[in-house]
Amino acid sequence: MASTHIPLSLFLTLLLLFISSSTAQPVKRRALLPVTKDAATKQYVTLINQRTPLVPIKLTVDLGGRFIWVDCQNGYVSSTLTPLICDTLLCRLSHSGACDGNCTGSSPGHPNKDCTCSHLAYNPVSRTSTGTRLNEDVITIQDTDGLKPGPYLKPSKVVFGCADTSLLKGLAKGVKGIAGFGNGYVAIPNQLIFRFSRPRKIGLCLSSSINSPGVIFIGEGPYVLLPNIDVSKNLLYTPLLTNPISTAGSSFGGEPSTDYFIGVKSIKVNGDLVPINNLLLEINEENGQGGTKISTIDPHTKLESSIYKALVKAFVHSLTIPRVKKVAPFEMCYKSSSLPSTRVGPGVPNIEFVLQGKNGETPSFIISGANSMVAVTDEVLCLGFVNGGENPTTSIVIGGHQIEDNLVQIDIDNKRVGFSNSLLFQQTTCANFNFGSTQGQDVGGREIV
Ligand SMILES: *[C@@H]1O[C@H](CO)[C@@H](O)[C@H](O)[C@H]1NC(C)=O
Repeated sequence: MASTHIPLSLFLTLLLLFISSSTAQPVKRRALLPVTKDAATKQYVTLINQRTPLVPIKLTVDLGGRFIWVDCQNGYVSSTLTPLICDTLLCRLSHSGACDGNCTGSSPGHPNKDCTCSHLAYNPVSRTSTGTRLNEDVITIQDTDGLKPGPYLKPSKVVFGCADTSLLKGLAKGVKGIAGFGNGYVAIPNQLIFRFSRPRKIGLCLSSSINSPGVIFIGEGPYVLLPNIDVSKNLLYTPLLTNPISTAGSSFGGEPSTDYFIGVKSIKVNGDLVPINNLLLEINEENGQGGTKISTIDPHTKLESSIYKALVKAFVHSLTIPRVKKVAPFEMCYKSSSLPSTRVGPGVPNIEFVLQGKNGETPSFIISGANSMVAVTDEVLCLGFVNGGENPTTSIVIGGHQIEDNLVQIDIDNKRVGFSNSLLFQQTTCANFNFGSTQGQDVGGREIV
């Protein structure tokens, strides 16, 4: 990065002052995005309207992603596309480590407008990164009162990366890039608070059905699902942790992780403690390894090898029924007919992630049958956790299947993560948002400010 005359810390302080003054009176607004589960890849795909004229763009949701990136090589047409100039505040806040173009004489305070801010666009499915120019272009998303979709918001400029078509490899059919919802200055939550005044809260409600979409709320509750249940209420909260070292495939030096980490303190199966090495549960601040993050990219929760083995052992110990042949990537499989069905899925021992709490509280993320077991065929159910190997970057990666039909609220402003636990207990699901007939279809003629 070009030499910095004004320390980054000062910029951050100024930015935080700006944010705290702009949120002095909490804005009780929210917006929404539909999320569809792709059958072939199990990716969660959303739809954002971008460009002038507006075009609906399918993007794979990466909860920990740094920013939105799209394929600009193939059919990107827009009259409002502008480069993000290097040596500007936003470029510095993105933790970019490179500039591209004519950077002669560019310096903070005197940016050369032909010098473009460059960053790393990361495809978390193929685990490849490419250098990419950051740009700004307008997007619009739908307002909501929390009960139903509202009008589209006035299009506003949002930072995104312009990648080559080749970076799309591994993404679901029709997808044109990544929707990065991570904990960073150019990711969706921070961009939306500046551009659309939506508080930095993400209410993630992933549907388990490939036929009915789930929803991502952005902003304050209520988040209402049919039949009239506000799932933003009665959440269990655990502190949102940060990891000072990037956990993306590649990064610039000094870039913190944009993934959302939480503190799992212990794991229980059927109420009994699973013996694990607690050191693996901590984030190592030196190298960024360890700890627990939430992912919308991993379809199933991935556990460091020794944690995985201990969990499987405890599960098999408490579910003493005959197993059937394993189905990769899973190891413990059962005949569906040998398990009773309950309101919250197959009747199996609960798996409990005991979380860090405040004032001695120990909130638990409880994984019951619908979220622990995966139907690999009509007749076979397998324990839906996978072995993450011996030295993974992150010890526990909570994957999509385990949070489907749960509301998980990432509350950046209050540095906490809220869990509803299975919405099946409340007799609703994430497919129960009342999209009516407008679900992500039209690009919206109506606008509100
Ligand atoms: C690069 O930018 C500098 C400063 O604006 C300018 O003087 C120079 O002509 C530019 N070079 C090219 C090749 O455009």
